[in-house]
Amino acid sequence: MQNVQLIDHPLAKHSLTILRDKNTDTETFRRHTAIVSQIIIMEASKACKLNKKMIDTPIMKTQGHEIYRSMVFVPVLRAGISMLVPARDFLPWTPVGFIGLERDEETAIAREYYQKFPSNIENKLVLILDPMLASGGSVIDTISRLKEKGAKRISIACIVTAPEGIKRINKEHPDVNIYTTAIDDHLNDKKYIVPGLGDFGDRYFGT
Ligand code: URA
Repeated sequence: MQNVQLIDHPLAKHSLTILRDKNTDTETFRRHTAIVSQIIIMEASKACKLNKKMIDTPIMKTQGHEIYRSMVFVPVLRAGISMLVPARDFLPWTPVGFIGLERDEETAIAREYYQKFPSNIENKLVLILDPMLASGGSVIDTISRLKEKGAKRISIACIVTAPEGIKRINKEHPDVNIYTTAIDDHLNDKKYIVPGLGDFGDRYFGT
């Protein structure tokens, strides 16, 4: 497996354990999703450039820094929405692109029912938000659509990943980086991540 940044942080491990626990209620699940997401965004945003900026402190002039506003978030519907609010709290000016894909159960071909991307995507660092990278199908489709629109720098922020999904992304999009807090063991025959945390969207949205 290549291009994977496994984030090994005690706070992430603590919150991830709460997310994995089947007895965690929706409110607590949402709170810890926000914590883990922010730890991942913190790591992924290390790729952001800084501009130098002169400011006046109460004592003297000094040189500081300002983030160069170069990111775009693309949450994969529906679970990716959960990572958007914590991501936006860190980088509140960041534009958000949406793509709605629906897979035909028989052909496995993705049908696009919605697409809206910000302009100048070719000059931006696009961060795809998807908490569970399982077989990688929807993320791979999302990356392909983004590349068709001209995106050149793409990364993915995931809370839990499966080796199967990482390997597929490595093969089909070897230029894409993956930031995650867990690489789990495998996918089961229903394509759930093992040990995983169950259906993320159902647990986050309380459905
Ligand atoms: N999506 C989920 O919500 N959970 C999994 O285990 C895999 C994909």
